[in-house]
Amino acid sequence: MSGLLDATFRRFVPSLPPLTRNRVLMAPLDAIDYLARAGQSDLAGLPPNRMRIRTGVGNRLLGNGAYWVGSGRDFWGQQFDAGRVRPDSSILDLGCGCGRCAIAIDRFGIGGQPFTGKYLGLDVDREMISWCAANMDPTRFRFAHVAKRSKVYSPNESADASATGRVFVAEDGSIDFMFAISVFSHLLEKDFIQYVQETRRVLRPGGRVLFSTFCMEDVDSGPDRRWSFKHRWGATFVESERYPEAATGYERDWVIDQGIRAGLEFDTTIPSPVQTCFVFRAK
Ligand SMILES: C[S@@+](CC[C@H](N)C(=O)[O-])C[C@H]1O[C@@H](n2cnc3c(N)ncnc32)[C@H](O)[C@@H]1O
Repeated sequence: MSGLLDATFRRFVPSLPPLTRNRVLMAPLDAIDYLARAGQSDLAGLPPNRMRIRTGVGNRLLGNGAYWVGSGRDFWGQQFDAGRVRPDSSILDLGCGCGRCAIAIDRFGIGGQPFTGKYLGLDVDREMISWCAANMDPTRFRFAHVAKRSKVYSPNESADASATGRVFVAEDGSIDFMFAISVFSHLLEKDFIQYVQETRRVLRPGGRVLFSTFCMEDVDSGPDRRWSFKHRWGATFVESERYPEAATGYERDWVIDQGIRAGLEFDTTIPSPVQTCFVFRAK
């Protein structure tokens, strides 16, 4: 039933992020959230509610602060336990949004120790990158804009990435752990392939990458389900032709093949009816 309600809502609102750039619409939600968090020290210093909504808070348009902070903290616990990252790692957070994972590693550390490594966050959203750069310690955290146009996340961007083909402002072989939560699930085929190649370039030998996307074999899709993915554009399954980057899906073997073609070693998948995680290792 909730899937049907969700599907109906999505028919009218195929993509939420564009609405979150409407300041008039968002002002009351930002104000209520700000007042509700006043005096709660564990929820101080968070980005405005409109930005958190833009990066995904389920259906929690209000009262999402504790969930937002907690999900970032849980992510680092899982990655540490899986042996993918250390407290002194050099980390690339692709599609970092308004800093959910950056704030968590800064506040809670990793594996019970403070984070002492370097952190690079990249995103196409200028407002969120500016917020992160202004609010995180610049000695360990750096944030940079990626010049890519997305109808959903950067509709006003005129140009695509640089002519050099380099999209990530990271040196070759400089990253121990790269991750992208719900970012490849917003990429069309050409960018997907380019981003996997860039991943291979920036990872150090032995470095790991974990990214999530909608996997056609695992996702909860169908006529009355949450997702339809009924449009096929090349290798990409597109949910909404009006906002193609709102949600994109791929077949499992196609994703694994892109990693191998780029020179990565396939490690594992973590399947989910929402988004499946793919993990690769640099040789
Ligand atoms: C669903 S949000 C997830 C944000 C963040 N990873 C998190 O888990 O909180 C998707 C993010 O990907 C970013 N994004 C979308 N397309 C991108 C692209 N082509 N390159 C880099 N970032 C992109 C969006 O601006 C947004 O911040």
